[in-house]
Amino acid sequence: MAEALQQLILDTLDAQSSIKDSRALVLPGQKEPATSHEAQITILGALNSLLSREMIKYETREVFTHVLTAEGASIAKEGSHEARVWSALPVKGQGTPVTPQQLKKLVGDETAKVGQGRAFKNGWIGKEGDGFVKTTNTINDTTQLDLQEIESTGTLKTGEKVLADLRKRKLIIQKKGQWFTVSKGPEFSTSTAKPETDLTADMLTSGAWKTAKFKKYNFEAEGIPTNGGALHMLLKVREEIRNIFLEMGFAEMPTQSYVESGFWCFDALFVPQQHPARDLQDTFYISDPPHSLPPEPEYYKRVSTVHEHGAYGSTGYRAPWSHEESSKLLLRTHTTASSAHMLYKLAAKCRGEKIDGEDGDYTGTKTAVDSGDGFKPAKLFSIDRVFRNETMDATHLAEFHQVEGVVADRNVTLSDLIGFMRVFFKKMGIEKVRFKPAYNPYTEPSLEIFAFHPMLDKWVEVGNSGMFRPEMLEPMGFPKDVRVHGWGLSLERPTMIRYGINNIRTLVGHKVPIENVENSPAVRF
Ligand code: PHE
Repeated sequence: MAEALQQLILDTLDAQSSIKDSRALVLPGQKEPATSHEAQITILGALNSLLSREMIKYETREVFTHVLTAEGASIAKEGSHEARVWSALPVKGQGTPVTPQQLKKLVGDETAKVGQGRAFKNGWIGKEGDGFVKTTNTINDTTQLDLQEIESTGTLKTGEKVLADLRKRKLIIQKKGQWFTVSKGPEFSTSTAKPETDLTADMLTSGAWKTAKFKKYNFEAEGIPTNGGALHMLLKVREEIRNIFLEMGFAEMPTQSYVESGFWCFDALFVPQQHPARDLQDTFYISDPPHSLPPEPEYYKRVSTVHEHGAYGSTGYRAPWSHEESSKLLLRTHTTASSAHMLYKLAAKCRGEKIDGEDGDYTGTKTAVDSGDGFKPAKLFSIDRVFRNETMDATHLAEFHQVEGVVADRNVTLSDLIGFMRVFFKKMGIEKVRFKPAYNPYTEPSLEIFAFHPMLDKWVEVGNSGMFRPEMLEPMGFPKDVRVHGWGLSLERPTMIRYGINNIRTLVGHKVPIENVENSPAVRF
């Protein structure tokens, strides 16, 4: 049908050079012209197909047509109610008048009710005694005739007034229709052979490409979605947080060493050697090799002394020092181990060490001013992986990412830390923050940071922070009035909140649905 119709349109154009009214076409297999709405829809399909090949051009015209309702169709067939009433009655003086009850039986309740009044109004029937009789021998049932005309042409020659009346009587309804004028397009031909869509090797060797007709590119067509790489949600949030640090003037710390020694992960941070965090239950230890190389001996001595006997105004832990414990290798349990390395480097000049060349930019202090004693203020951050020997559940894994920052400067106070936290979390989209005193072996005072979570409607812990202890900073060689504050938070928690993820296994690991990764929007705090 589709092919035949396209051929008919092309042949008609070939013969008449244009089609002025598509309603005049007689569709293949039909006898009557295509005046119906459905027929024009079929024609439109064929026209669009030919238009895409530029074989034709067409314009759309709109018309309002009328179609009969079920009642209208029955009147077109059997006459109006008033005509049916009239037909059921005897001519005046030639029979027994029909009573209203009898009429109902003859033509049905509905027709009797509606038809009676109209037949009277038209002067077709009259009363005689108790009943009705015809008062005229012939009638002109215009309603039936009008409806028949509408049925075949979609409209009425006599005009809008009658149409409006028939609409009001719910015998017809108006329909928006369309029809088309058609003319030849630049690629007009009477052949409907499909144009080629691909240039093939065969066409090139046979030379068929020279005469082949090719389908035009459709630049309006939507492309197939590309399956390119997609950034994982954690990487998106990580990048966003990284940008917050960078815009606040922080430098990124190198954090590539997942394996640390007990010394850097704990001792340097003044974590007692008996602390439960060092337990096998909390920390993954490395069995091969089991021990680290020794740290710089002077620093090692200062650290072991402050633990065992106390120094710098501190009484220390007064517990025997274990070199074995200090040299154990482990997977770092926090990125504060990396911060310790960096702070130790930052204090190098204060210890009077000569540093190769300019002091490098590994501490992010290239532009900071040395105060004469070798100290330069620094703001450092890192976002990287840490490992804890935890029981895994919906919100805990044995490895996760920590976001960490440290700020080192003279005379920094706790208010600076709190003020800084507010600014930092505000940039992460967290407006309401609260602080609660907490305990860390390496900071005093220490503060847990809570944020109000509007979705959960409660305060949730989002980070841990504090002012690093002199027991940690002074063995490194920092001048007494240098203060360092720092804080840490997990990367997974804000990511889960951001993307509405409840189970960490849909964020990390082999159960991550790949569509989540492909479809997750960029994050903006
Ligand atoms: N290391 C702490 C943690 O793992 C975070 C922290 C970093 C706290 C720096 C204070 C200072 O929770």
